[in-house]
Amino acid sequence: SQRKEIDDTLATFALSPTQLQEVKAKMRVELERGLKKDSHPTASVKMLPTYVYRTPDGTERGKYLALDLGGTNFRVLVVKIRTGMRNSVRMYNKIYAIPLEIMQGTGEELFDLIVQCISDFLDYMGMKNTRLPLGFTFSFPCNQTGIDKGDLVSWTKGFKATDCEGYDVVDMLREAIKRRNEFDLDIVAIVNDTVGTMMTCAYEDPKCQIGLIAGTGSNVCYMEEMNNIEFVEGDEGQMCVNTEWGGFGENDNTEDIRTRYDREVDGGSLNPGKQRFEKMTSGMYLGEIVRQILIDLTKRGLLFRGRITERLKTKGIFETKFLSQIERYSSHLWHKLRSILQSLGLDSTCDDSIIVKEVCGAVSRRAAQLCGAGMAAVVDKIRENRGLDHLEITVGVDGTLYKLHPHFSTILKDTVRELAPNCKVDFILSEDGSGKGAALITAVAQQLANSID
Ligand code: BG6
Ligand code: GLC
Repeated sequence: SQRKEIDDTLATFALSPTQLQEVKAKMRVELERGLKKDSHPTASVKMLPTYVYRTPDGTERGKYLALDLGGTNFRVLVVKIRTGMRNSVRMYNKIYAIPLEIMQGTGEELFDLIVQCISDFLDYMGMKNTRLPLGFTFSFPCNQTGIDKGDLVSWTKGFKATDCEGYDVVDMLREAIKRRNEFDLDIVAIVNDTVGTMMTCAYEDPKCQIGLIAGTGSNVCYMEEMNNIEFVEGDEGQMCVNTEWGGFGENDNTEDIRTRYDREVDGGSLNPGKQRFEKMTSGMYLGEIVRQILIDLTKRGLLFRGRITERLKTKGIFETKFLSQIERYSSHLWHKLRSILQSLGLDSTCDDSIIVKEVCGAVSRRAAQLCGAGMAAVVDKIRENRGLDHLEITVGVDGTLYKLHPHFSTILKDTVRELAPNCKVDFILSEDGSGKGAALITAVAQQLANSID
């Protein structure tokens, strides 16, 4: 029957407890591989060093400029941190749009636009003549060799500007500042958004030693023991590692759980074959998976009276916020569901709207479970690092998927609880993005530099 066909399709997204355990175990293997000298260069989970050696301790102070590029919004910020008193951070920020042509244009254009935005912001704040230290939250994989040095490994998500991959991001920014020849800045730190988020949250909660982004992309960082990071000199203390877990699966070890819809989405993306875990777990792709399923169900005559509209063929129509809206309504409010679909240009019957909701539910549930399985691997690794039977730890989280979706965070937490029973994991939301974290990292880096001078 038609119902059975739909159920069978959605069943390919249901993961059994055993499958989730397997995901956790495989993620653990990849975390370890990424840390070893021999396997690090080719690892699917890149485990990038960040040169952030500790979370904030409350002694940070100063006035900083921060950039935040790579999520939904590009921001320029001023962050003022006062000593001694916690919570004494003030921020001023402005959001700027980055047009698609620039995201996918030339690197020079992209960095020129960034510097133009900084210039506008400095004018707006009346700060053109103050040379502030700058922390740059750059939410892409960077091969860092210092706190202010990092080569872009590859673009991810919606960016694909030319002549950037393999080049130092700080150099590219410095050159763009020179080209403009209008003001000078001290670029002190380059920061992944996961790290910024962890630092922001750690400022409030010292138990926070993990940063999670469930937004446009998906990624995690955590505090690792220096002696486990084989490719970085030194064995004392800790360093934050940017896992880039979005790349998990690039070595084909998650093929058993990928569906034909996942392959379709991957094939139509800017980076086919890459970021396979990210493509099953993050906001930029979940709507696309949903759309692929809807197209297939329609072709099979199970939906929308078998008619594929131009609308349904349009890439990117199901943004995270729509998935979140659709899943917020229970099925008996189908007229609400229907009006959301209508606003997307999809003409649906009552049955249709209920099926669409089920599809969204299956896709987002799997995403949250996969994130949970990955997180379970991370917390168990930290627990074992420290030789503990029981670990209490806090994860600082940010991202539109986590914040807007009605069930994502609950399913994520439930999964972590089930798969890592020896860890008590608290999740706290980063209230003001990772710009504050970038400033804190800049402050810590300056303290360190001054103590060495
Ligand atoms: C924000 C950070 O808080 O979260 C960004 O400041 C980050 O840098 C973002 O990329 C992730 O969320 P999204 O959903 O906008 O990708
Ligand atoms: C992508 C990026 C990663 C970032 C994540 C969340 O996975 O590669 O660096 O942290 O998106 O924004």
